Amino acid sequence: MEKIYLTGDRPTGRLHIGHYVGSLRRRVELQNAGGYKEMFVFIADAQALTDNIDNPEKVRQNVIEVALDYLACGLDPAKTTIYIQSQIPELCELTFYFMDLVSVSRLQRNPTVKTEIGMRGFKESVPVGFFTYPISQAADITAFKATHVPVGEDQKPMLEQTNEIVRRFNYIYGDTLVEPQILLPDNAACLRLPGTDGKAKMSKSLGNCIYLSDDRKTVEKAVKSMYTDPLHLRVEDPGHLEGNTVFTYLDAFCRTEHFAAYWPEYANLDELKEHYQRGGLGDGKVKKFLTAILQEELEPIRQRRHEFEQDIPAVYDMLKKGCEKARAVAAETLDEVRRAMRIDYFDDAQLIAEQAKRFAAKK
Ligand code: TRP
Repeated sequence: MEKIYLTGDRPTGRLHIGHYVGSLRRRVELQNAGGYKEMFVFIADAQALTDNIDNPEKVRQNVIEVALDYLACGLDPAKTTIYIQSQIPELCELTFYFMDLVSVSRLQRNPTVKTEIGMRGFKESVPVGFFTYPISQAADITAFKATHVPVGEDQKPMLEQTNEIVRRFNYIYGDTLVEPQILLPDNAACLRLPGTDGKAKMSKSLGNCIYLSDDRKTVEKAVKSMYTDPLHLRVEDPGHLEGNTVFTYLDAFCRTEHFAAYWPEYANLDELKEHYQRGGLGDGKVKKFLTAILQEELEPIRQRRHEFEQDIPAVYDMLKKGCEKARAVAAETLDEVRRAMRIDYFDDAQLIAEQAKRFAAKK
């Protein structure tokens, strides 16, 4: 089967380097490697509204931020269809049909949704739309017959839910939809990049993010204040790598050629780690190295973003074209879905002819 890549992001803020190593970097590589039929990347504004219903302006303002981050990272509208979820009404239709295929107790077991409900303090008043977003996410994926979905680890339960829906749908209505495969980052540090404070996840509310659009000074400051090893008090003390954010970031960003460029005293990351653990290597030096690597990676992204920021109407124009193309694809799938579900009344000449005959014979 030909590959169809699809993924998306909620527009609740600018994208940060956790998004980058978790999925964005991979998407751009996949896009440029070729060998696929289609690549879809979308801005999940309708999903963002499920827990921001009273803050539509936040979602509205962040659509462009995410679009700019996409373009800055190298997503290319000539190769990737970039669109906005809410502009594809077929997704709502498909979600509605999928709702019949999922039980309430199955949704209650979704670990990501469970955690999110706790974090958002919904208590007893979880909005139905939020509770059911894994179903709408299954529609996002299957409306485009995606075969591969590059996302972070937290999206695993959504893909499992999607595959259950696809199997159930195909079993009941006949082979129509495609089971997607998750594409996770292959490096453990990229799977879940911690915040600069060492907390498990980067999040805007914790103020522990490095954004793709942060300027050089902000990045430098963020690394300087980064959490390391609290037991590594003096340079000569042995250092620990576990939970040491600076080393986790190096695992995610460092390539061997960075040593030749910025720190030729070491041949590779293993040598550096060894010295750190032995003692005699200060955090400041390691942080300086990490800063150099991050600046090298982020500078071209910043520059491209700045260029795209000069022509915002053109970015909206690109998004509009993407929506048109995406809508045409989703509409085709929905035609198949309606046919499979036996709700294609007006397109089924046979149905009408047979019923006409039956009723005529009744007299
Ligand atoms: N839930 C994803 C996130 O929070 C966004 C998303 C919505 C998505 N629909 C999707 C990702 C479909 C992949 C495929 O980032």
